[in-house]
Formats: sequence, structure tokens, C-alpha cells
Amino acid sequence: RPRYTGIIERYRDRLPVHDDARIISLGEGNTPLIRLNNIPRVLGKEVDIYVKFEGLNPTGSFKDRGMTMAVTRAVEEGSRAIICASTGNTSASAAAYAARAGITAFVLIPDGKIAQGKLAQAMMHGSTVIQIKGNFDDGMRLVKQVAETSPVTVVNSVNPYRLQGQKTAAFEIVEELGRAPDYHCLPVGNAGNITAHWIGYCEYSSGSGDHVTEACGFCKGRCMYAGGAIVGNRPRMVGYQASGSAPFMRGAMVDDPDTVATAIRIGHPQSWDYAWKVKEESGGWFDECADEEILAAQKLLAEREGVFCEPASATSLAGALRDVKAGKIPEGSSIVCTLTGHGLKDPDIAIQQSLRAPQTVEADLESVKRAILENID
Ligand code: F0G
Repeated sequence: RPRYTGIIERYRDRLPVHDDARIISLGEGNTPLIRLNNIPRVLGKEVDIYVKFEGLNPTGSFKDRGMTMAVTRAVEEGSRAIICASTGNTSASAAAYAARAGITAFVLIPDGKIAQGKLAQAMMHGSTVIQIKGNFDDGMRLVKQVAETSPVTVVNSVNPYRLQGQKTAAFEIVEELGRAPDYHCLPVGNAGNITAHWIGYCEYSSGSGDHVTEACGFCKGRCMYAGGAIVGNRPRMVGYQASGSAPFMRGAMVDDPDTVATAIRIGHPQSWDYAWKVKEESGGWFDECADEEILAAQKLLAEREGVFCEPASATSLAGALRDVKAGKIPEGSSIVCTLTGHGLKDPDIAIQQSLRAPQTVEADLESVKRAILENID
């Protein structure tokens, strides 16, 4: 079997890359699809819930799938610098792939509102970190303005190659399950990832090697929208937002978004129109989760299944569990929840909400024994 070397090599025939392109990869993709054993039992519902653990990508989030494409294309086009606005994960990924490519990365992040792990990544990989006294939406506006007049490539998900790379997560799921799940649940911020997954599912189900909606622009007239038949099933796409940052629930942009899940603290989603289309075409829906529900799901997953994701990622599971309980997602369904980022990204929140704070005892046998005995259930 050939060595695994990332999503571009794996899905070359389905991605817009030239044969002679220099591929900028860190071996992203091929992430585990973990079937939950304990949580469905706690729920008392007959459902197959899988989590696609995208936190196990090279920089700890799903962004790497898109970044390998965006940076490969940027380098091919002769770009010497990339730029992004970010709530943390895009900047970590952009910084790493720029380092790999030997080009410069500029990242704009909201001052004080990104998780420590992500900041550490952007700094360690040598990017220029610009903290702005504003939120992600301000950063996005500024990045677009800068790119109009400067020779930098924007690697936010408005870059169409990002979505092309990210669609490969759907390919992996269909290949592993032998079909698409009935429901696919994701946390939604800019709504790029939910759009990318839908592109992936549509491409796979229409059996055409190439693309989908005008979102990608790489159809070459072969997709189902251009007359290709649908041969496989496609999931209902369900997008969950944090209540304080839920423009899709409000039906309008939110100017002052807030949530503990800083990764999705976004009020002006960049893929607004696409996401509505995804909802309609797939027969899915949007819903919102309170911060407490998000944190409870993060903890439940860590404690009951041994899977540690960051708060934003747990939004998909929080919403799915609620909809399974309510019967909106019926028993007998197969469900995939994307866990977008690793729990180690945000150690502060994890430690804050840990039930049992570490206790400090004397370094002798008696003290340690006592601590153990006191904690036996
Ligand atoms: N989950 C995590 C962990 C994220 O970092 C993001 C987005 C999302 C979900 C939402 O994905 O925007 O495609 O709907 N993070 C971006 C960033 C905004 O800058 O890292 P989306």
C-alpha cells in the first residue's frame, strides 16, 4: 500500500490541481470516524452516532484539508504571502502551511478572544500575528480590503480552493460507511465547512469526478446540476450555532456575536447564501445551542467516550443529542457529527470546567493513598 501523503494525493482526480503542481502537504485528512458506544446507551435511543474527529489533522483542525489546497494553488500562482482573518484555527493552519511552503503568513485575530493553543501555533510557525481590537467579522472585512491592493492571497474560506479541499471529509465518510449517513451535523460559523461537505456528498452521489454548486466553479459541466444522475444517498445537513452567535437562526447578521465557543464567534457568515442552499437542497435545518449545552456535550464526550474536542466542535454533538432525544432525528438513523478541532486547542476552558480540580498532597505514600481512597466512587 502506498504511504499516505495527504488529501491531494489521495483524491487528485477529484480536485482542481495540475499534474506538475508542487503539493504543499502535512499529511492532512484520513481522520478517524469513531462510533460512539456509551453515549447512545445513556440516551436510551437506537441510533448510530459517529464522530469524525477532525481534531486529529496535523494542526488540530479541519482547516488543514482546505489549507493544503489553498496554499498549493497560491504557491503555484507565484504568491509569496498569504493572509487570513481567524478565530484561531485558520490562522494556526495558515501559519503551518506557509512555513512548509516557505512563504509568509499574516494573520488577523480578535484581541484576547482566541484560545491559547491556537495563538501558540500561529506564533511558533513564525507568522505575523496582528491582533485587532475588533471581532472576526471586522478582521474579515479588513483582510478583503488589504488583498485588493496588496500582493497577498486570502486563504479564508472565500478562497474556493479551501472548500474543494474540505469536501474530502465527506468522501472519506462515504467510503468508510459504504454510504452517506442519514444526518450530518456540523458546527456553523462562516458556513464554509457545511457547504464543503455538501459539495463532497453531492459529487460522490452523482458519480461525477468533478464538483458541484457554483460554490466551487470547477464543474466542467459534469455534476448533477449539469445533468448528472444521483446514484447514491445524501445526508440531511444540520448546522448548529452557538446561541450568542446564531445569524442563521435570527435570519439576519449579528453585529456583536458572543459565545464561549470562540472558534464560531462569528456574526457575518461568509458563506451565507450557500448555507441556505445546502439546508434547502438537503432537507436539513439550522438550530442553536446554549453555551452550557455546548460545554456539557464537550465534557460528556471526553468523559464517556475518551474523545477530547474543543468547545465549538462539541456544538455538533450537543445539537444532535438534543434532536435525537426530541425525536426530530428518528431512531434507526445513522448520524455523523464533525468534531472540527482538538480539545487541546483551548486548555483554559477545559480546565475551568473540570469537575475535579487536581489536588496537591505531600509526596508520601500515606497522603497519596488517602487521596485515592477519598476518590473511590
Ligand atoms: N469549528 C471550529 C473548531 C472552527 O475553528 C470553525 C471556524 C468552525 C467550527 C466553523 O466552520 O466557519 O466553516 O462554518 N473557524 C474559523 C477560523 C472561522 O478562523 O478558524 P465554518
